[in-house]
Amino acid sequence: MPAKKHGAPTSADAPRPAAADAADAANAARPDNSADKPDAPAARADWLREQIEHHNYQYYVLDAPTIPDAEYDALFRELQELEAAHPELLTPESPTQRVGGQPLTAFATVRHRLPMLSLNNAFDDEDVIGFDRRCAQGLGRTVAAEGAADLFSAADAVEYACELKFDGLAMSLRYENGRLVQAATRGDGETGEDVTANVRTIKAIPLKLKAGAPAVIEVRGEVFMYRRDFDRLNARQAEAGEKTFVNPRNAAAGSLRQLDPRITARRPLSFFAYGLGELDGEPRPATHDALLERFAALGLPVCAERAVVKGAQGLLDFYRGVGRKRDSLPYDIDGVVYKVNAVEEQERLGFVSRAPRFALAHKFPAQEMTTVVEDIEVQVGRTGAITPVARLAPVFVGGVTVTNATLHNEDEIRRKDVHIGDTVIVRRAGDVIPEVVAVVPERRPADARPFTMPTACPVCGSHIERLEDEAIARCTGGLICAAQRKQALLHFAQRRAMDIEGLGEKVVDQLVEQGIVRTPADLYKLGVAKLAALDRMADKSAGNLVAAIDASRATTLNRFIFALGIRHVGEATAKDLARHFGKLDGLMEADEAALLEVNDVGPVVAQSIAHFFAEAHNVEVIEQLRAAGVHWPESEPAARAPAPLAGKTFVLTGTLPTLSREAAKEMLEAAGAKVAGSVSKKTDYVVAGEEAGSKLAKAQELGVPVLDEAGMMALLEEHGAAGR
Ligand code: IVH
Repeated sequence: MPAKKHGAPTSADAPRPAAADAADAANAARPDNSADKPDAPAARADWLREQIEHHNYQYYVLDAPTIPDAEYDALFRELQELEAAHPELLTPESPTQRVGGQPLTAFATVRHRLPMLSLNNAFDDEDVIGFDRRCAQGLGRTVAAEGAADLFSAADAVEYACELKFDGLAMSLRYENGRLVQAATRGDGETGEDVTANVRTIKAIPLKLKAGAPAVIEVRGEVFMYRRDFDRLNARQAEAGEKTFVNPRNAAAGSLRQLDPRITARRPLSFFAYGLGELDGEPRPATHDALLERFAALGLPVCAERAVVKGAQGLLDFYRGVGRKRDSLPYDIDGVVYKVNAVEEQERLGFVSRAPRFALAHKFPAQEMTTVVEDIEVQVGRTGAITPVARLAPVFVGGVTVTNATLHNEDEIRRKDVHIGDTVIVRRAGDVIPEVVAVVPERRPADARPFTMPTACPVCGSHIERLEDEAIARCTGGLICAAQRKQALLHFAQRRAMDIEGLGEKVVDQLVEQGIVRTPADLYKLGVAKLAALDRMADKSAGNLVAAIDASRATTLNRFIFALGIRHVGEATAKDLARHFGKLDGLMEADEAALLEVNDVGPVVAQSIAHFFAEAHNVEVIEQLRAAGVHWPESEPAARAPAPLAGKTFVLTGTLPTLSREAAKEMLEAAGAKVAGSVSKKTDYVVAGEEAGSKLAKAQELGVPVLDEAGMMALLEEHGAAGR
């Protein structure tokens, strides 16, 4: 279903709407096999529409599709073709019309026949207890004395319907004789905007209600976006170089406010019904709960996360239960809503100014707030990763006071355009680290400053590097940086490296925290007495550890290279390097070009190794290790011809007949060549496949030799490099 592949929630992460049972019964009764597929165009079109709407309902409302996408697509296409051939058969309710009609110049104004009210808010238990007390009193129930312990167990406690407070936009949907005739925003509660054309594109909203709909029914509810759909939409927007949205609510609002419904049609909006406006042609259900059941029976989406409870304790239990699952719900909510369940009681309680006395919104702590970025600093992680962190004016968000928020990396700061001094929106949801989601551009002060990535590590002063193709910058002082110390020591001591048995996490933690060991070289100065003084370290194990450290002095070059913890240098690469250079000094002196000659070493690895040994701090520790007696047998460098294509730059373009772009790149790099992304005068060869475009043209213009795949293979063979 191409029109549907937008990620309506799967049953794994979305509550199954309450209508499921009723719908399953309807589904079982529905004939969808060949026996009565009509042939006459008009009947056929009706039949197709019914089928498609039924599958839309299964997919978007119940989240329980019953046919494969391809089958749905076939039905949809057949209906489109039929309507094209017989335009007189086209109806406004046809599912083919959900793609969005002509753009509007402005939204018309809609006067709500019954005002769309707002809710009073509660922020703590006291507010909720007060609400329950007022309802009980208003309904003439027995009410316990204020503060009495038995408040919650009053025999004639009020019954409430509890539901979620969805974080979207309130919407009124007017159905006449079962057909959607108008959709309007809440506006100021008295008048809203006519967004019918946009709302008709929302597939969770039926254009036609199920059989038995009353003459007029005005359904109220919330238009919102599932988080997963929101993430996908934002990824799509970013890829297309378009503006991304701060949160699902803004994305939903922005999507509804489009004058061009074709844009709305591409936005994955959804809907839950929770209230009734006008009704004509059938009696009002007696309770709120029965109303929601009625909505579900009419084919409207109703959220299953709801309950009918009694008294204040019931309300608070519901609130806590939802609070526990808030972060795992597939959409954003900002609280829960309590409504006196019996409609007759609602009427008796009535309204105060613009809010009902019979309902209450109990809010959760806000997960997004604005605050000011006072500074941007960088933090060094255990692996040397440098993370920019915004230092914030303290703000209460997600239930705690937040003073720091991650900015992830340099590119992210540029993308969000965060300056020091900016007012930003900070989000903290659940246990997730607080993050800066967006800048409020109109609140940027004149003296706001952009962030510049420091060149030296704030912890150890070593250089900060950012390797080609990587988003994360890192500290190069792996052997001496305090932030990386524990990690570096554990890596150094592991069995496949220096093999120091007994130097585990608990010991390393203590050695580092007590300042006894700063670098791996310090390990070789440890005596039994120092170790035996550590927590849970008996004399015997201290003795064993000293012996293990001592024994590790005799090692091999490849183990030693691996033990250094150079980024991108695993065991296999360490072996290649040891074999190639034979001696540590040869490796330490090698520049990137020389490193590229090593089997399987590409530009990123070469850069990483060169940066590691360029860092004086690291060299110092290596010298200390050697001075402490760490040694290995050295050999002559492997006699190898220099990489045959070293110094040559290639550009790959188009589709090669047998090799993937990646495989071709690897072969060239293994032969020492550099593979670049664009053609310039410095390019030595362009390797072009099918559908090569502008790069090929550029090569021809500059007179750069062009090879096909066979030509490239011949060149590699000629240099003895094929199959390296
Ligand atoms: S009932 C008379 N129920 O909250 C009460 N509202 O401040 C009418 N909302 O504008 C609203 N979830 O956008 C109701 N389950 C729910 C809701 C809900 C979200 C929003 C709605 C309304 C605002 C009220």
